[in-house]
Amino acid sequence: MKLTFAVGLLSLALSLASPCPTTGGMSEVTVAQLNKAIPERAASDSCAKATAPDECVTNEKAAPAITNAIKKYRVTQRGEIVALISLMAYESAKWEYNINHYPGRPGQGTRAMLMYNYVQAYASSLFPGHITADIANTASDEIKNTVRKLVLDDNNSFGSAFWYLTSVKPEFHNKLDKLRDGNMDDFKDYIEHGVQTTWDSDRQSIWESVNEAL
Ligand SMILES: *[C@@H]1O[C@H](CO)[C@@H](O)[C@H](O)[C@H]1NC(C)=O
Repeated sequence: MKLTFAVGLLSLALSLASPCPTTGGMSEVTVAQLNKAIPERAASDSCAKATAPDECVTNEKAAPAITNAIKKYRVTQRGEIVALISLMAYESAKWEYNINHYPGRPGQGTRAMLMYNYVQAYASSLFPGHITADIANTASDEIKNTVRKLVLDDNNSFGSAFWYLTSVKPEFHNKLDKLRDGNMDDFKDYIEHGVQTTWDSDRQSIWESVNEAL
C-alpha cells in the first residue's frame, strides 16, 4: 500500500510538471450548467423517487463538489472536465448511486464507482497513515466498506474521477492529443484505455449532453 501511494504521489508530481495547454480553460461548473446537462437532477425533489434516495444528490450539491475537485486537482481543460462529469454521471446513474449496487461489490464506490483497489489508494491519498499495509492485504468485506465510507462525502466522492485522472492516468491529463475539447473519440479512448471499461451508446448520449451544456 505504501508503495502504491508513493507511486501515486510521483505521478501527481509529474502531471503537475507537465505542459499545460492554454486553450479551453475552465475553473468552475455551475448548477445551471449541470441542470442543462443532467436535467433529471435539476428538481429539488428529483432524488425522492430514486431507488437509493439516501445516496442520491441533486445538481445543486454536485456542482460545488465538482468545482472543488477542479480546483483541488487543478484540472482546467474543458475536454477533461466534460469527460469526468460524463463518466461520473454514467457510473452513478446521474448522481443516484454512491456505492456499487449491481452486483454490490464490497468497497466499490464514489461517483466514479472506483473498484476497491482504487478506493483504497484514493483514501490513502486523502488520509495518509489511516490505511495500513495489513488492511490493504487482508481486507475483509467489512473493512473494504469501512475504507469506502472515508471517501463518500460529496467533495471526496465527486473528486475521485479527478484524482484518478491526475494520479493514476496522468498520461491523459494536460496532453495535446488526449481528452481534447469537444472530441468524443478522445472520451471513448479514455473510457476504453484510461478507465479500462466498455463503451456504449448511453456513455455517448451523456457526453453529448454534458458537452453541449458546459
Ligand atoms: C468541500 O470543500 C470545500 C473546499 O475545500 C470546503 O470549503 C467545504 O467546506 C467542503 N465541504 C464539506 C462538506 O466538507
